[in-house]
Amino acid sequence: MPKFFITTAIDYPNGAPHIGHAYEKVLADVIARYRRLRGDEVFFLTGVDQHGQKMQQTADQEGVNVATLAKRNTKKFINLWKTLGVEYDGWAETTDDRHKLCVQRILSTLHDQGQLYKKAYRGFYSVRQEQYLTEKDRNEKGEFGTEWGEVVELEEENWYFKLSEHAAWLKEAVTSGKFGILPEFRRTEVLNAIERAEDTDLCISRPKERLHWGIELPFDSNFVTYVWFDALINYISFAGYGDEGGDSLPDFAALWPANVQIIGKDILVPAHAIYWPCMLHAMGFSEDQMPTLLVHGWWNIKKKKEELGEGEEDQEKMSKSLNNVVDPAELAEHFSVDAVRYYVVRDIITGKDSTFDVQRLISLFNSELANDLGNLLNRSLNMTKRFIGGELRESSYTDDDCEAVRSSLQQSTAAYLAAMDLYDVPGALKAINGHVVHCNQFIERNPPFELRKDESQSDRVATILHHLCESCAHLGVLLSPALPAASAKILGQLRAVELIPAKIDDLAWGLLPVGHEIGKQKPVFPRIVNPDSAP
Ligand code: MSP
Repeated sequence: MPKFFITTAIDYPNGAPHIGHAYEKVLADVIARYRRLRGDEVFFLTGVDQHGQKMQQTADQEGVNVATLAKRNTKKFINLWKTLGVEYDGWAETTDDRHKLCVQRILSTLHDQGQLYKKAYRGFYSVRQEQYLTEKDRNEKGEFGTEWGEVVELEEENWYFKLSEHAAWLKEAVTSGKFGILPEFRRTEVLNAIERAEDTDLCISRPKERLHWGIELPFDSNFVTYVWFDALINYISFAGYGDEGGDSLPDFAALWPANVQIIGKDILVPAHAIYWPCMLHAMGFSEDQMPTLLVHGWWNIKKKKEELGEGEEDQEKMSKSLNNVVDPAELAEHFSVDAVRYYVVRDIITGKDSTFDVQRLISLFNSELANDLGNLLNRSLNMTKRFIGGELRESSYTDDDCEAVRSSLQQSTAAYLAAMDLYDVPGALKAINGHVVHCNQFIERNPPFELRKDESQSDRVATILHHLCESCAHLGVLLSPALPAASAKILGQLRAVELIPAKIDDLAWGLLPVGHEIGKQKPVFPRIVNPDSAP
């Protein structure tokens, strides 16, 4: 069975998860479920990045112990994933002893191999990004831009990783495509960033007097590990790297390299596209053992008209400090999990940004799910029950319109598969909707409720209803990665669960045999009736 190893960024639990975090995890969950349908043995790893200055700072501000803060907020993430149906196979918490041990072993080996050195440095430091800045980080005006947040001048001794020694190798791996970066347009951004790494090493420690909340360097107890060096290792530590037996971690050799590592555009450069492959290379991984990065865009927030300055962009970043974060748990409670899952993966092109708009969430749900698909399901099941007693009948009737339904389904399925293979979830959902719309039009052109009045049309009615139920069963399968709970309801009402092939490739016309009895219809996508009550 082919394997599929999928990871996401691990979130900072310095607050509650917001819709941006939820998007990434739902996207990963949709891809994981899709790969399972394709017959892959999937391992989906996600988790939380519990160390670092951000966590220590938040804990200090809130007057709580940092370990308590990490534990408390980690629960909020775990609870949200449960609510949203994000089902992972591995959970990465960086305070886990197995991870700490793995990080320390890697550090010791790199130290023994001469990949690490200690030196004194005086320079500028971005508190927000937790990294030292160089002259190249200044903008056209010669300043450190707002993206760096608070910038302070520091002088301290630290440990460095010889990143620069791997820059030429990395350039080649990126240029040749061995280190995969999706979407393609991100590659240029990475190549530009590599130029910067050519003469800069990476500071991988923080003095304990400044930051105590981290993994101690195994060869110098005055320091803890830089949070990114610690966090990036989660992708291999929780995949069983260096694990000596025991059955709590997977078999690393069977999993690595990750087929896809899903991250947001803000953490591509330098962390995932520079530090990470160079760290792997220093550990002895070759260019053929590099993961593929899937870089998604951001959900931004629409600014209120009254807050908009002259010529200012009408959207802004979602952030705790701007007090504009959208709470996915609240949305799910208010509109349903299906509405949230559907919206976050449907209304953003993978790789691009989008603007969060609750009215769009409502209108997409109401039009594509409640109206289009919901109606199709209601009508197909109800008419089958009422007009032919709920049992699919033998009929040799066919015509061009029926044939067009079959070919629409075939084309939609092909478009769906092609899109999903490219992680284009909105494209795949549009392909599903294409067939739904086709079926609804098919009903309008061939209304069973009229045709049944004419006895001579009874075979035609039977064929029409069979085509509709069969279509609904296929749609239920295609929808299952994005909306697993709704899909289970659809297939349950059709009594088709047992008839679904294990692999989506084997999904072919003829799922529901003659004589098949469908179940009772219940609305799967009740319309959102009060759009103004949005939270
Ligand atoms: N802890 C680091 C990642 C370490 S990975 C080894 C981190 N954490 S984060 O909590 O700030 O962000 C986690 C993920 O959520 C990142 O991939 C980030 O891009 C994503 N998002 C955070 N805000 C987002 C939006 N507004 N929209 C979409 N994704 C966003 O970075």
